[in-house]
Amino acid sequence: MRLLVLGGTVFLSRAVAEVGVRRGHDVVCAARGTSGPVPDGATLVAVDRDGGEAALEPLAGEEFDAVVDVATMDPEWVRAALAAVGGRAGHWTFVSSMSVYADHGTPGQNAATARLLPPVHRRPPELTPDAYGGAKVASEQAVTELFDGPAFLVRPGLIVGAGDTSDRYGYWPARLSRGGRVLVPTPLSAPTQFVDVLDLAEWIVDAGERRLAGTFDAVCEPLPLGEVLAATADGGRAPEHELVPASPEFLEKHEVKPWSGTRSLPLWTPGPEYEGFMAHDVSASYAAGMRTRPIAESAASTLEHERALGLDRERRAGLSADEEAELLAELDA
Ligand SMILES: NC(=O)c1ccc[n+]([C@@H]2O[C@H](COP(=O)([O-])OP(=O)(O)OC[C@H]3O[C@@H](n4cnc5c(N)ncnc54)[C@H](OP(=O)(O)O)[C@@H]3O)[C@@H](O)[C@H]2O)c1
Repeated sequence: MRLLVLGGTVFLSRAVAEVGVRRGHDVVCAARGTSGPVPDGATLVAVDRDGGEAALEPLAGEEFDAVVDVATMDPEWVRAALAAVGGRAGHWTFVSSMSVYADHGTPGQNAATARLLPPVHRRPPELTPDAYGGAKVASEQAVTELFDGPAFLVRPGLIVGAGDTSDRYGYWPARLSRGGRVLVPTPLSAPTQFVDVLDLAEWIVDAGERRLAGTFDAVCEPLPLGEVLAATADGGRAPEHELVPASPEFLEKHEVKPWSGTRSLPLWTPGPEYEGFMAHDVSASYAAGMRTRPIAESAASTLEHERALGLDRERRAGLSADEEAELLAELDA
């Protein structure tokens, strides 16, 4: 098939283009090309989606069997893409996010019934969680309203694997690969969900091939954090190590942030308001063809990527070795 990826130069959209090429499709990537090269075998059409009405002019008159859009923050981009190529596309995938949900406290919710944030129809000035989620809601609405064909609205949770630029899940295989005493948040029974970038890319290309329609979450079944860390250690062949549990109260007192950012512990989402954040019911996604690989495989590919970036670099997420050592000393005291 002829596949248009709006993106294709970094992480997920690049993986989608790669899978498309591997399956023998004619893959066109439309991006500026500033984030990196498109995969070998794909064609780059240079566009700048901030370039006003004529931004997608280079795609005028082109026909595609399937289109994949990863627009992150700007519903106008989504509307413009639909106006430019929506009328000559057989299938449309919009990569949304589980950030669309208004309630992260209730476990067991599913994509069909969970309540959404109010839509944000214009690009928000700041990337707050609600603005990001609201922009994704408005983008999904634009696809539903404007695309006259089968549309796959896929809502990933945390995407992990090689090529991740956020440094979040990668903290754990990188840290475990150093061995020794590893500070971990409790409870280790906390439900944890994520998706490997390659599993998501395969599912997105499948969806285009099969013309799958509908709205789905894209994460694995909820697994206890302790199991995720153990499988991550296995996948990265971590040397001898000991998990040293730290309570939410201790971590908060010592200004360790949950989830992301510097001085954080990724995969940690404390508080009752997040009890459902990584506890979605994803049976409908598996029934619609999503496949998720063993965590150890994701850990191995993520660790390879981490090593290529440099394990001692300044991270965008996680603790530095010094920060962790200080916290362990405090905990021992
Ligand atoms: N990472 C996560 O854990 C996570 C979780 C949930 C949902 N998501 C969603 O998953 C998707 C991830 O997509 P991604 O990994 O491919 O990364 P991305 O950073 O969302 O997308 C970047 C793509 O858009 C292109 N782009 C950026 N600015 C552009 C412009 N002005 N004009 C044309 N193209 C432009 C980039 O190419 P150039 O820079 O080369 O132009 C690149 O190919 C997003 O929709 C994100 O919201 C991510």
